[in-house]
Amino acid sequence: MNQNMIVIGAGFAGLCASIQAAEKGYQVALVSPMPSERAQSVMAAGGMNAVLNTKGENDTFEDHIADTVRSALGIASEKAISKMVHSAPGIVDRLIKEGVLFTRMADGNLDLRRFGGQKKARTAFSSSGTGKQIITGLNQVVRKYEVQGKIVRYSNHTYMRIVEDANGVVVGCVIRDNLEGKFLVLNGESVIIATGGFNGIMGNTTGSVNNTGAVTANLFFNGVEMANLEFVQYHPTTVYVSGKRLLVSEAARSEGGRLFSIRNGERWYFMEEWFPGVGALVSRDQCSKSIYRALKMLPEGEKHVYLDMTFFDEKVFKTKLAETRSDCLKYLKLDPMKDVIPVYPGIHYFMGGIKVDSEHRTSKKGLYAAGECACQYHGANRLGGNSVLGALYGGLEAAETAMQDNHTIYSRDELKVFNKKALSRLDRNLKMVVGKPKQYSIPATQMALQKIMNECLGIERNATTLLEGIRRMDELYDERIKDNYDQTSSYFKNLQVKERWVLSKAILLCALGRKESRGSHMREDYPEQNDEAFAKMTLAKLKDNNISIQFVDVE
Ligand code: FUM
Repeated sequence: MNQNMIVIGAGFAGLCASIQAAEKGYQVALVSPMPSERAQSVMAAGGMNAVLNTKGENDTFEDHIADTVRSALGIASEKAISKMVHSAPGIVDRLIKEGVLFTRMADGNLDLRRFGGQKKARTAFSSSGTGKQIITGLNQVVRKYEVQGKIVRYSNHTYMRIVEDANGVVVGCVIRDNLEGKFLVLNGESVIIATGGFNGIMGNTTGSVNNTGAVTANLFFNGVEMANLEFVQYHPTTVYVSGKRLLVSEAARSEGGRLFSIRNGERWYFMEEWFPGVGALVSRDQCSKSIYRALKMLPEGEKHVYLDMTFFDEKVFKTKLAETRSDCLKYLKLDPMKDVIPVYPGIHYFMGGIKVDSEHRTSKKGLYAAGECACQYHGANRLGGNSVLGALYGGLEAAETAMQDNHTIYSRDELKVFNKKALSRLDRNLKMVVGKPKQYSIPATQMALQKIMNECLGIERNATTLLEGIRRMDELYDERIKDNYDQTSSYFKNLQVKERWVLSKAILLCALGRKESRGSHMREDYPEQNDEAFAKMTLAKLKDNNISIQFVDVE
């Protein structure tokens, strides 16, 4: 089947890329294992940033760029940030035209909230369920193009690997029909990856458990470069709920929610003491680190931090925090109108991922990436509200670049040769994982891997914990991955665990190599930021089974 563009992932970035291409007359294959309604984007709570200036604060593009650049701490491209920021108001307009309902003020203008680390209110929102509204609007546009035959959805299909021409240029991909269990090859001039963050590598995140990181890991395994993998964002206010973390949106602190712990029997508002005038609305990395620091200072038995929203007007819960309140009631059996919520920082976002240039090209020609799977706008720390914007804008921009780039057009017979080669490589890799049957199941191995990552790559790291993580990772490989074959799982799940292992090891090596503290990467043994050596991006590559880590200049 020949398509002009293949998009892998049906969340914000994937939908935007598909719409942009279909609008320009392209034929798009939109591939995802789940329908868009189950994409992680649906979980976006607090909103998206755009300079709309409806609050009379004289917000400007320069302010938005400055906040984003400051927060990224020197390791994101200012050129890329500037383009994203300038596009934001237009994207909001476009969403409104497609029927997305943003919360408005009494004067009819869009309401805006101020998220942490921002100097002005610039986050447009739909109460605390912004993701649901945006995905509904985008899905509607995609449906229009589906009816016209311009977008063909391959839901229930899983990406397996890329197809390359004789020069390593990407000309398609192999996917698996999950209902029939069959492989299928799609050819296209370009492939856009929009598969979200690698939650499955760490487990225990606020994101979707369906974002396993398998696609990113497969691309790394197949030679695609990664960047800034060690930068993992811990959101300050999350709560453990059966195997994952529930997000209590930053919107709560934006409305004035206060963080405190109990010290000597009294409330200690440590954020207000340490950051007078800003309090809990400092950037996320600073807030999470402060919670961590405050807890370290407290005696055993008193190591708890609480978020207090009990003094909010009832109307705030109805119009701005409806979903946050309903989540607390449902999953925590606590009512934020009456109860304080016990919180702890939890993994929320991966700033690092597939390395892309400022137009979203990856290190392989013909392959593009956008959204959380790509490393582009956020550097060492992402601002709340910039992920939704980054994913929407990234999808549009990746599609635009892919359409503008020159691509070699191959005949069907030529493509057949490349497709055959990709299928036989896939087959060879799948067979490679068939070893001696052993007692370890894939889910158990996966959980063991996540345990190592969680224990060694916490909010604070040091050489000892990281080296120990790498040692345990090698041990895991020898014991459970190298010759282990879980016959109760499919070939490809056995292969995926090996690929995820390689990516996990690269993440630990990046964290070990960056001997400084910067944003979300906090090294106990190197507490200072070292611009001379490390105001650079961390580049990870896999070649001939060896992981190499380098520090390279920001574009
Ligand atoms: O807390 C939040 O609502 C998260 C927003 C974000 O990560 O952008």
